[in-house]
Amino acid sequence: MPSLFDPLDLGAIHAPNRILMSPLTRGRSTREHVPTAIMADYYVQRAAAGLIISEATGISREGLGWPFAPGLWTEAQVEGWKPVVEAIHNAGGRIVAQLWHMGRIVHPDFLGGAAPLSSSATTAPGEAHTYAGKQAYGQARAATRDDIARVLDDYSAATRNALRAGFDGVQLHAANGYLIDQFMRDNSNFRDDDYGGSPENRTRLLREATSRLIAEAGADRTAVRFSPNGEVQGVDDSDPESVFVPAARWLDDQGIAFLELRESKPGSSFRPSEEPRLSPAIRKVFKRPLILNQDYRLASAQADLDSGLADGIAFGRTFLANPDLVERLRRDAPLNRANPATFYTQGAEGYLDYPLLESA
Ligand SMILES: Cc1cc2nc3c(=O)[nH]c(=O)nc-3n(C[C@H](O)[C@H](O)[C@H](O)COP(=O)(O)O)c2cc1C
Repeated sequence: MPSLFDPLDLGAIHAPNRILMSPLTRGRSTREHVPTAIMADYYVQRAAAGLIISEATGISREGLGWPFAPGLWTEAQVEGWKPVVEAIHNAGGRIVAQLWHMGRIVHPDFLGGAAPLSSSATTAPGEAHTYAGKQAYGQARAATRDDIARVLDDYSAATRNALRAGFDGVQLHAANGYLIDQFMRDNSNFRDDDYGGSPENRTRLLREATSRLIAEAGADRTAVRFSPNGEVQGVDDSDPESVFVPAARWLDDQGIAFLELRESKPGSSFRPSEEPRLSPAIRKVFKRPLILNQDYRLASAQADLDSGLADGIAFGRTFLANPDLVERLRRDAPLNRANPATFYTQGAEGYLDYPLLESA
């Protein structure tokens, strides 16, 4: 059985270990969504990860509604990413860009007051993070065929931009209640065209967007992220297995580099769920590298590798709080705890100052 510290080929990307850094939005870019120098420092601190999955990165103005999150649709953003990616490579690391369209989670404030795009005219529950603080979400409008065509073109352009910026590949963000997830689930997609109704139709946008990434980056540099079990940002499904198992089989047929699942567990401090994990069913149809995430520690991570359920494990908050996580896991050393108060604040505090083992 492989150990967490054994290498793993993720398509064309050679990971020296099976400890991935999961995508983590941190809000350290500029208001124009251009990456900043401290982002290079932050990622370099974590470059020992088998693979870094970048914080979610907007594919378009329309698709990004998070204050100070990065984008990949302007030249300035591409230029801003270049030194970040180069620094990670110089430190011996690897990074793929997580490509993000937030759909109805974009507050109208980011769109000059216009309604955000979604599968159907729905409103997300709760409040959006905006530059003016937390505000109730606005009602989305249902995407037209032209909207869908434009969004797909934006995925293509963002993939090309990611490659120009030097990223090792791309990950389609199809998790956590954002646009692709809003299309996939039967409590947020009420369309009566060929993007709605059956699971086959609701996963059409997923397949079309994935195909755009593959066309630009190659399947062996394309990954996808799902969050198949449990409600997230108001998005849920009456029968997730009917959606995600066929979708995973299709992704396997395309030969993507890896599939990552964020699986919720009862009592989790991050979006807890009582719904069973889908990884056992997905593992049966997805034979390529399967990466699992959420609430892992050393023993549970190694156990899911030992059972063959996972090929690698992505760590989120533990990587956020422990720049030297790989070394800490290797030594089974104590872990720093993440401080939620500085998750999304600007500047270096709570970003660059988590102590290393030697200095803890
Ligand atoms: C501060 C923070 C930011 C996050 N940003 C993203 C993101 O940009 N994209 C994404 O897919 N998931 C995001 N997540 C979810 C994490 O990648 C991960 O799935 C979650 O933290 C559970 O894993 P963990 O228990 O190892 O932390 C975020 C989570 C946190 C705590």
